[in-house]
Amino acid sequence: MSFTLLSSPLQGFTDFRFRNAQQKYFGGIDTYYAPYIRLNGKLKIKSSYERDLLPENNTTLEVIPQVITNDAEEFLFVAKYVQQFGYKELNWNLGCPYPMVTNRGMGSGLICDPNKIDNILHRVHNETDILVSMKMRMGYANSEEILHTLPILDKYPLKSIAIHARIGKQLYKGGVDLDAFQRCIDHAQHTLYYNGDITSLDQFKTIQKRFPNINHFLIGRGLIADPFLPNMIKTNTTEYPENRWTLFEAFHDEIYEQYDAALSGPTPIKMKMLGFWEYFSRSFSNPQKTYKKIKKATNPIKYKAAVKEILNTEI
Ligand SMILES: Cc1cc2nc3c(=O)[nH]c(=O)nc-3n(C[C@H](O)[C@H](O)[C@H](O)COP(=O)(O)O)c2cc1C
Repeated sequence: MSFTLLSSPLQGFTDFRFRNAQQKYFGGIDTYYAPYIRLNGKLKIKSSYERDLLPENNTTLEVIPQVITNDAEEFLFVAKYVQQFGYKELNWNLGCPYPMVTNRGMGSGLICDPNKIDNILHRVHNETDILVSMKMRMGYANSEEILHTLPILDKYPLKSIAIHARIGKQLYKGGVDLDAFQRCIDHAQHTLYYNGDITSLDQFKTIQKRFPNINHFLIGRGLIADPFLPNMIKTNTTEYPENRWTLFEAFHDEIYEQYDAALSGPTPIKMKMLGFWEYFSRSFSNPQKTYKKIKKATNPIKYKAAVKEILNTEI
């Protein structure tokens, strides 16, 4: 059965630089969700969000912008904003688990408030023609919350509902709850997309087998840990290309150069790349040792030498 792979957004990681390089060197992703736009009380878009969505920075990618909000005015403002760049769809984030967001009734903290969701969707569908899709967890406190929200969502012509099969209060701990995801399938009329812990071809196959009617899958952390993964899933192989590490090095160098040019000073680029290596290192033979080597590299020269050394030990 044919299926679609989507890149699940990671704020701070999957911006246009990462997306373009991922597509160029590895492929396999059909559609990329952009990390969310969050307004800070003002109807004004930060320039970093704008850069991420500009058509000239996404020429070969299919990208869906995302918003996190609990306010119809903000939603409408962002909808209009992204439409000017030609985007037809806006994804609504009801998944973020962090207290700074959920305490304000946003992200997964909004799932338990079907009335508010209803009011916002009502206004959005009356006042704009943007296509709305959702990305959500199954609740904040428990996985029943979504079951009260799904009937509200049925009232609107949403494109899709991507569900990360966890609840907010878990953060990223514990496993995904596949029984609860099945309950969502049993209660939903909209098209559901699966999200959560796809980190290998095997894992993908297990999920696909368990939910044979799902044909859209989001990959988040697994894509950063192993950018080859979507293409390997698409071609149904566990074999890496022969030039695996050369490709990885070219990909790494490309994003490094771009972030280095965009960020000023040695500390921000170090922190940026260290963030990536937290994930990259998982695909190396010795993840802890790999990560430690990068962490210990205190300047760009040492960093580049550490990367070379790490890659040489893999070849
Ligand atoms: C650092 C980080 C940043 C994230 N940023 C976003 C975001 O901007 N929007 C969103 O919908 N999800 C965000 N997520 C959630 C992921 O997209 C994804 O739903 C989650 O990690 C589960 O999928 P996975 O197991 O494939 O990673 C973020 C997750 C992490 C770890």
